[in-house]
Amino acid sequence: MLTRIVYKETPVCRRYFSTISRRFQEALSSEDKEAAKKYYGDDVNYGELSKAQKAFLDRVIRVDQAGELGANYIYMGQYMVLASKYPHLRPVLKHMWEQEIHHHDTFNKLQTERRVRPSLLTPLWKIGAIGMGAGTALISKEAAMACTVAVETVIGGHYNEQLRVLMNQYNVPVYDKSTGEQLSGDEINTDIEISPEISSLKDTISEFRDEELEHLDTAIQHDAKKAVPYMLLTEGIKMVCRGAIWTAERV
Ligand SMILES: [Fe+2]
Ligand SMILES: [Fe+2]
Repeated sequence: MLTRIVYKETPVCRRYFSTISRRFQEALSSEDKEAAKKYYGDDVNYGELSKAQKAFLDRVIRVDQAGELGANYIYMGQYMVLASKYPHLRPVLKHMWEQEIHHHDTFNKLQTERRVRPSLLTPLWKIGAIGMGAGTALISKEAAMACTVAVETVIGGHYNEQLRVLMNQYNVPVYDKSTGEQLSGDEINTDIEISPEISSLKDTISEFRDEELEHLDTAIQHDAKKAVPYMLLTEGIKMVCRGAIWTAERV
């Protein structure tokens, strides 16, 4: 009786229960599919990257190396001007600068390993970046922080764009290591769909992207928005950075 009161079978109820049961079955079958996958790592070989994938990868490493070199020199310029004048900012600037040195070293290493030609304008990036860091720091400490906001906003977005491409366009054929047979997507675990090399580059870029966004937050906490004129400074610097990225990818 109670059941009849609570559950009166109507078309709406029927539809509701059939949707739930379908979703439940779908969930089960996708779990089954995942469980059926046989390949999890060391037992596969990866096919070659296409020409377009290789060209994009070279561009990624060239522009990121140039960008991190720029960031390293910007923080160097800021540190030179501000560290003695504002001792309380010294550890803050030093921490960010050290992270940029690490980013720069990492891309230098990748550039050598993959034999990617550096940007031909490297001397210009060095002079421009140290000039931008020291120049804004000479205006005021807030202007230096506004420069950091602008630079890190552009770099954060730029890294996100690269990550999107690396995640979506870097699948290559995967083969069984012992038989040499090409494997289908159903046979391999999602984690090993892209090669360890691309996967490690992706991890590096997302780690650096997170640190760049931390620099952005730090700059805001240290009064970047009090810089005068804030909009003109940040928008001008963002434009310069976007131009530099476009150029360093190509030249
Ligand atoms: Fe960086
Ligand atoms: Fe940074």
